[in-house]
Amino acid sequence: MTKMTKLSTKHLLGIKYLQKEDINLIFETADHFKQVINRPIKKVPSLRDITIANLFFENSTRTKLSFELAERRLSADVINFASSSSSVTKGETLIDTVNNILSMKVDMVVMRHPNPGAAYFLSQHVDAKIINAGDGAHEHPTQALLDGYSIREKYGDLKGKKIIIVGDVIHSRVALSNIFCLQKMGAIVKVCGPLTLIPKYISSLGVDVITNLKDALEWCDVAMMLRIQLERQNIKYFPSIREYTLLYGLDKALLDSLSKKITIMHPGPINRGVEISSDVADSNQSIILNQVENGVAIRMAVLYLLAGRID
Ligand code: CP
Repeated sequence: MTKMTKLSTKHLLGIKYLQKEDINLIFETADHFKQVINRPIKKVPSLRDITIANLFFENSTRTKLSFELAERRLSADVINFASSSSSVTKGETLIDTVNNILSMKVDMVVMRHPNPGAAYFLSQHVDAKIINAGDGAHEHPTQALLDGYSIREKYGDLKGKKIIIVGDVIHSRVALSNIFCLQKMGAIVKVCGPLTLIPKYISSLGVDVITNLKDALEWCDVAMMLRIQLERQNIKYFPSIREYTLLYGLDKALLDSLSKKITIMHPGPINRGVEISSDVADSNQSIILNQVENGVAIRMAVLYLLAGRID
């Protein structure tokens, strides 16, 4: 089989639209950029003359900073937009906002938006390459890529690895993108949490549910802990945060009671003391900060490979 040298897609809208070969190509390209960002001179000229707009209609720390750093490391010209300080607050539509930005000759758009499907919608209406930086509770493809890459870095391969995703799965774009990504790469994914926080369609994705946290942790090689997304919950999904933490919070006593050493991940932001205790988040079994470091290399790889298709 011929090895892929470019992505099969024009945009990065979701992991659902990627092939396994695309993901392997992104990982191999990220290997190269990880070396670059660990050199004394961390900048390469790959995206000189490319202009990228980062449009954030929803708050972000990691994704926004990581994309901007990746763009600057590749020598792109970067403009940043935050909806809270823009004319969106005066009633301007998404398309009008983006078309105004694109008329400034922008080649690529990185967009986070609270509405599922916003990145896809944009890709149907504008010429620039679109990268989805999180669309509501739908997908967060670069987060899943950096998560998959971090597991590959730890274990050498994703094939056959057992991953449990714990917590607020129903509101999590990270969970859905990770299910697509990890399964495409041959990992086995299960979810754990109160049934009110697990989507009813989960079995249609080939994902089993384990409701007891200790059983779930005994099964897995890697536990991906999720934050409770109170900002997306307009009804009560469980009696109290205290009860949730008692049943589904991971603390050191539980981690140390397991029969083997597992790896702990979290996409951030962490609510310390709720889904994960500080001593677990900061333990030598946690690769949470490796995930953040790998985010820059993964985003450099995605930007570089998508820019290769600019015609
Ligand atoms: N993981 C993640 O998307 O974090 P931010 O919301 O801070 O970007």
